[in-house]
Amino acid sequence: MRKKGIAPAVCLLSTVAVLAACGGNGGSGDDAAKQGANARGPITFVTGKDNSGIMPYIADQWNKAHPNEKVTIKQQSDQADQQLSDLQQHFQAKDPGYDVVTVDVVWSAEFAAKGWIIPLEGQYALETSQLLPATVKAATYNGKLYAAPYASDGGLLYYRTDLTKTPPTTWDDLIKQCDGKTTSGTITGPKPGCYAGQFAKYEGLTVNAAEAINAAGGQIVGPDGVTPQVDSAQAATGLDFLVNGFKQGYIPKQALGFQETQSLNAFQAGQLMFMRNWPYADAILSGKDSKVAGKFAIAPLPGPSGHGASSLGGHSLGISAYSKYKATDLDFLKFIESDDIQRNDLNQGTLAPVVTALYSDPALVKKFPYLPTLLASIQTAVPRPVTPYYPGVTEAIETNAYAALQGQVSTKQALTNMQAAIKSATAG
Ligand code: GLC
Repeated sequence: MRKKGIAPAVCLLSTVAVLAACGGNGGSGDDAAKQGANARGPITFVTGKDNSGIMPYIADQWNKAHPNEKVTIKQQSDQADQQLSDLQQHFQAKDPGYDVVTVDVVWSAEFAAKGWIIPLEGQYALETSQLLPATVKAATYNGKLYAAPYASDGGLLYYRTDLTKTPPTTWDDLIKQCDGKTTSGTITGPKPGCYAGQFAKYEGLTVNAAEAINAAGGQIVGPDGVTPQVDSAQAATGLDFLVNGFKQGYIPKQALGFQETQSLNAFQAGQLMFMRNWPYADAILSGKDSKVAGKFAIAPLPGPSGHGASSLGGHSLGISAYSKYKATDLDFLKFIESDDIQRNDLNQGTLAPVVTALYSDPALVKKFPYLPTLLASIQTAVPRPVTPYYPGVTEAIETNAYAALQGQVSTKQALTNMQAAIKSATAG
């Protein structure tokens, strides 16, 4: 589905109304907003697979309070690319059956520019002062808020506390700890693999490659958010941490097929000493089926000379322009920002709250001692490029990073190719 330049292609293939939106600045969302503006009724909330088991609580709480406006939860796959393609197809078909949709931070610009989700202004205005600024910014396009921040995401280093007491702060230290060349850890029993993140060719690879590049002082795009600046020595140092991992063996070969779930499964089975993943992994790794429950902890991501920086992840909820019950949709957006839902998402699914105050709530900090680490990860996170042509941009990053990880091209060549491919994807 995700060919280079799919965003412009989508515009060309779509109906007149969507065409107008593609050429514009999101203004058509204003007209679409009028459809079903004051109407209430049953709604469908479309969201990624509920790995964390939090959706039943959300549905129960909402439905108890809104017997005439019940929500049906439609779960997609647990894979970011498939979720996006599902939403694109339903939006192109103007499906009124998708009322409220989960919007990954990197989809906000495309959905807004095409008029698929409505701006949250005027009668749809949403209070955001209590929310983490990074989450609000990530749901904003051309100065307008388009979605309600729901769960943030910052990358974290999961490490085995039975193997090392001191998590590495640098990449070198991480490699040395795996080699057993450190005094901070005593590896006993069968030695697990060293490190993995998400290196299959999909959105997660863009996240991981960008993190490595950013940590080394490189950047994917310049300050305007679209002009590629990835063909640099710093970016090469960053990407080399991953490329050398596969060459030297501190990243297992199987990790070339890892998305979030597979890396989590490997760590949970005791096969890795270190793993990069999002906060949701904590709840699952602490569960009864986990071999590493009670044997792991969470630290900031390492970098070349001190802590690295995460790519900003997370999701917001948008109101589909084609929904017939937008008054209900808006109330549902407000409901997901509530203390009750945000707290339960953390308690049950270890999702990163978007409400700032929860990060200093004494009971929560006691239960999740890594909350300050998570907050720092989010606050220092680097956004991925913000552009309606993001599908083409991420394709450019993934494809070329993957070729380098596989050893098909040199790191330098991969970055030169990436630079050219991003340029052509954003040319419009
Ligand atoms: C997580 C992040 C999201 C990212 C995705 C990549 O779901 O929240 O922003 O795009 O992982 O797989």
